[in-house]
Amino acid sequence: MIVGNDVVDLRHPENQPRAIHPRFDERVFTPAERAGLTHEVTAHRTRWLMWAAKESAFKVARKLDPGVRFLPRRFSVQLEGKKWAAVRHAAERFRVSFCGGDDWVHATATRFDGSDATREPSGMVERVPGGESSAEYASARVRALARSAVGSVLSIAPREIEIAKVANVPVALRRKLLLPVDFSLSHHGRFLAVAWSLREQRSSQ
Ligand SMILES: CC(C)(COP(=O)(O)OP(=O)(O)OC[C@H]1O[C@@H](n2cnc3c(N)ncnc32)[C@H](O)[C@@H]1OP(=O)(O)O)[C@@H](O)C(=O)NCCC(=O)NCCS
Repeated sequence: MIVGNDVVDLRHPENQPRAIHPRFDERVFTPAERAGLTHEVTAHRTRWLMWAAKESAFKVARKLDPGVRFLPRRFSVQLEGKKWAAVRHAAERFRVSFCGGDDWVHATATRFDGSDATREPSGMVERVPGGESSAEYASARVRALARSAVGSVLSIAPREIEIAKVANVPVALRRKLLLPVDFSLSHHGRFLAVAWSLREQRSSQ
């Protein structure tokens, strides 16, 4: 299964309702999505749930087609309660699951083809001790989490796993060979997140 994820720190100063650009919603959300942002009390969380759904679906779409660009309005989100969403992009459909706390949301996306309906990728979210970290710390720490996750799935010591990038997409290698686990990294504000799944040996994946 191919996975994409996105974590959003809901208390990050840059994504507060008064801090975002006045036309942010118009630029990134479709009219149908914006209709879900009319209630002041729920708008902030809903906005970032929908954003996380778009970004996590983009990360899957980009792995399926390296030519895909992140044009947020083209990833249309239909929320299904608080835990799920369906995302469409061109001819592709994605299934997104959410988890979260008072001050964060995490979205995990997979391609929706009907057969994956009962399977879920694994995931973890870590709060950075002591508050927001540097980009360097976040990148290093989220890779350490990914090496542990991939290592536990394949029973390999994390130190033997290298996280590299191919066309910007992170991949796991052991002795320069690609390991059969797909994963996705995200970090924002005080949070780091990894989602992962064994890669299927199917030509369509
Ligand atoms: C993927 C992207 C949307 C994530 O942005 P973000 O919210 O700032 O960051 P996140 O923390 O959620 O994700 C970053 C991680 O995703 C991974 N990532 C980056 N590009 C990725 C891609 N194309 N596909 C999958 N994963 C990707 C990286 O591991 C990155 O972590 P790192 O910086 O430690 O290496 C952004 O980096 C990106 O590539 N945007 C696409 C640009 C584009 O299409 N522009 C066209 C507009 S006209």
